[in-house]
Amino acid sequence: KNVVKIALAGFGTVGTGLAKILKENKEWIKKRTGKEIVISKILVKNLNKPRTLIPHPNTIFVDTPEALFQDNDWDILVELIGGIDLPYQLITKALKLGKSVVTANKALLSMKGKDLLKLAETQNVGLYFEASVGGGIPIIQTLKESLSGNKIKAITGILNGTANYILTEMSQNELTFSEALNQAQEKGYAEADPSLDIKGIDAAHKLTILIFLAHGVVYPLEKLWVKGIENIETQDISFAKELGYVFKLIAQVKEKSGHLQAGVFPALLPQKHILAKVDGPFNAILVQGNAVGPIMLYGQGAGDLPTGSAVLADIISLIKNNYAPNNTGFIESPFKDANILDNVS
Ligand code: HSE
Repeated sequence: KNVVKIALAGFGTVGTGLAKILKENKEWIKKRTGKEIVISKILVKNLNKPRTLIPHPNTIFVDTPEALFQDNDWDILVELIGGIDLPYQLITKALKLGKSVVTANKALLSMKGKDLLKLAETQNVGLYFEASVGGGIPIIQTLKESLSGNKIKAITGILNGTANYILTEMSQNELTFSEALNQAQEKGYAEADPSLDIKGIDAAHKLTILIFLAHGVVYPLEKLWVKGIENIETQDISFAKELGYVFKLIAQVKEKSGHLQAGVFPALLPQKHILAKVDGPFNAILVQGNAVGPIMLYGQGAGDLPTGSAVLADIISLIKNNYAPNNTGFIESPFKDANILDNVS
């Protein structure tokens, strides 16, 4: 059939971004995939909220999970709600019904990713999650496919757009911490609970996903060393600047003699460091492979269109791969959970 129907759970920043791209690039997508991708249902919290992108009222909007699954007349569940309980419930249900799933939910993947991927594999359907790390940057695909023949020695990244936006604005435009955070929220970069961004937890979720892809290890979040940017003051930033340094919230994993060391922490980088030049909502990820050497990916790490772009890439991959499981992460890892160090040295 020539129409692929999407059930969308959540219609916030990323959901509306996806709808915008589907509208704008409709003909192009049809040419590339031979299919028309149609949003056939949207689960929202409040049916009465005014919406401009999709004329309202519209029968595609529903406000209960039961209504979303009624008839099961769609092909892919796209989960963009965020949080844990409801998304877990929806994704598990969809997979058990034999539906493929696309999600941007890094918190859920960080905690339940392996179980969900196993379930998807058992059900012989796909669970794709390009949008969960780095917004529009294709880091998942890069680790899964492009670098799959490498042993990954290190990953060092700026993985949170909100924190990077705050640090950039404080340093370059003399905004206060809270002014910069407000702007990041207005622009749709921040999490519903922005403490996840500023305390480094969102970056930690993303780092554990990258560790899982690169090493096949579930790195327990509670073992990860995580420090946020909440205590960085304008004065710290200007002193650093005078000395030729910038603050960046860094997420890093390194392999060292059979151990993995990982953490999220604010770091002082010399101004000429390649990651020091990554500003605003941009993210960058440096990957060190034992064959390829260093590579760097750079792009918008948050926001409606970049993140929507990654979600759409997953939908198109699913169509092209005939809804097959992606076999992510089930590599035999040389690392055992017990080998993981508690701290970054
Ligand atoms: N709150 C996240 C960030 C959104 O600022 O990076 C993208 O995952």
